[in-house]
Amino acid sequence: MLATTPSPASSLWQPTCRCLPAPAVRPRPQANGRGAKLRGSAAAGPAEGATASCPFAAASAALQGWQQGAAQQQEEGDGAMQTPGPSPFSLQSLMDVSLIFTEGLHEAMLRFSARYGPVSRFANPSALNGAAGWVFLNSPGDIAHVCAANPKNYAERFLPDIYKFVTHEKGLLGSGGDYNRRHRRLCGPPFRSGELLRKFGEVVVDRVSRVADTFVSQPGPFATNVAVQTQRLTLDVVGLTAFSHDFGECQAIARDVGGRAQPSESDQDRLLWAVNAFGQVLGEVFITPMPLLRLMDAVGLRQLRTLREAVGVMRSSMLGVIAERRQHLAAAAGSDGAGAAGGAAEAEAADLLDMLLQATDDNGVPMTDEELWEDVHDVMGAGHETTATTAAAAIYAISAHPEVEARLVQELESVLGGRPATYDDVQSGRLPYLEAVIKEVLRLYPAIPIFPRQAAEADTLPSGHRILKGDVVFMSTYALHRSPDVWEEPLRFDPDRFLGERGAALHRFQWLPFGSGPRMCLGAAFAQMSVSLMVATLLQRCRFTPLHPTTQLIPAAYDITLNFDRTNGLRMEVAPR
Ligand code: HEM
Repeated sequence: MLATTPSPASSLWQPTCRCLPAPAVRPRPQANGRGAKLRGSAAAGPAEGATASCPFAAASAALQGWQQGAAQQQEEGDGAMQTPGPSPFSLQSLMDVSLIFTEGLHEAMLRFSARYGPVSRFANPSALNGAAGWVFLNSPGDIAHVCAANPKNYAERFLPDIYKFVTHEKGLLGSGGDYNRRHRRLCGPPFRSGELLRKFGEVVVDRVSRVADTFVSQPGPFATNVAVQTQRLTLDVVGLTAFSHDFGECQAIARDVGGRAQPSESDQDRLLWAVNAFGQVLGEVFITPMPLLRLMDAVGLRQLRTLREAVGVMRSSMLGVIAERRQHLAAAAGSDGAGAAGGAAEAEAADLLDMLLQATDDNGVPMTDEELWEDVHDVMGAGHETTATTAAAAIYAISAHPEVEARLVQELESVLGGRPATYDDVQSGRLPYLEAVIKEVLRLYPAIPIFPRQAAEADTLPSGHRILKGDVVFMSTYALHRSPDVWEEPLRFDPDRFLGERGAALHRFQWLPFGSGPRMCLGAAFAQMSVSLMVATLLQRCRFTPLHPTTQLIPAAYDITLNFDRTNGLRMEVAPR
């Protein structure tokens, strides 16, 4: 979500929580990555914005942490290693749990791996949120085991109760088991087919070129929040590629930078508000257990009122889009709405919604509007903001590193000679430095910082640590990507780490911005292509200068996804190149 979490004023390079003692020195197992190096300093990450949290949830979890202590010191007698973690009933366990609320789980995980090593475990005897215990994993070798060597045991994403509360376990993100597998099968193909991706690439280039036209046609350099503009741009791109629906956001960008913004409550503004409010509230009540959520709902607490309103806005907008497409398909098939699914079945599917509208189950029954809305909403939710914040972070990071910008612009100039980049350019490896830059952005600023799984059965990790049945295994792209045990100078923006011998030496599971395993991001290829084309096109034609913040590292924060400063976002001056 954009601009939802305030950034602290503290220096970027200092640990934020100064009341915490320095991490205890402890023997740290070697990270399991090829090329991974053991570094001595327990470097805390940069100061990031604290994730606002529901006070009830904070109190409840802190109490759990206090009552239960945390670490499960299980000696199984079968060769499994004791998993480190805070001692039960200790002040340390209370401080560790509080860290999650003050710094966010992503940053807490980085600190846990500095303190306890790449695997730690907090017990959860009263099964808060249905977990036997919480295991925090931060080594490529153990993550490879969970995602690739024994994925069946970790096939289910652990979802906090708030997701179940909102989605009723429907939709791509909120569902599990057969429902999820079926809907992944239905929704995946448009985002994997080379033919459709090429077509979608044209949409991206068309829309980003319109934005570049707007930018270069201004009478002089102007300041804008690049994060808002990329969010508008991607709303158009996702709307067009997934549902052939034009949200008209590129016109809104033109009005905005041309000083003709309408402060009115337009449908688009409401939708943007709803998307942002949804993510913000989810972040605030992320681990609140169901009984507390029901209570909060019953007494009409602000968060749940906002959530209901946001879902209502998104739902009516999506149902409108679905109705529009049903009519269109029915007209194309020369029949009325009732025959739309069957009648249009022979038509070539142009986008995700087409495919879903034509899909039927084993009994030939098409999806209902409600099922469609859930999937469509999840693709919007998962694809829109993530791509937007990644593109904004990329433009910022490139512009804050003039040597990177010069090399990138030179590559674009020599390979493309002034023409726009295409799907084939970014797929074929013709723009290796662009690819490395985008990878480096996704390393430092992964749009989704955590991907948790729940263990179906007990298991032993390659590092020798035991996972118990029902444990929730948290893997964090943020913590993994910023771990000094895994990366050299992790906070340095250094695209060269993905090139040549250095790139070849990377462990396959040390860079995972799209997660991994059976619940991996469905839109990874589409997202990487979109961000690359957006960045290439904007950088070819415009020069960006950071105005706020002005640091090399973006003080990014997370609710459930990456976001920037509440007031300024990523404010940059834009001028023609
Ligand atoms: C830079 C942009 C993006 C990033 C960083 C990103 C990252 C992620 C991550 C980390 C997950 C969780 C994976 C896991 O649990 O292993 C995820 C899930 C998902 N993503 Fe993306 N994503 C991006 C863009 C997109 C786009 C453009 C789409 C679709 C058009 C999309 C669709 C999905 C869906 C549907 C899921 C849920 C899959 C499931 O639960 O089975 N994402 N994404």
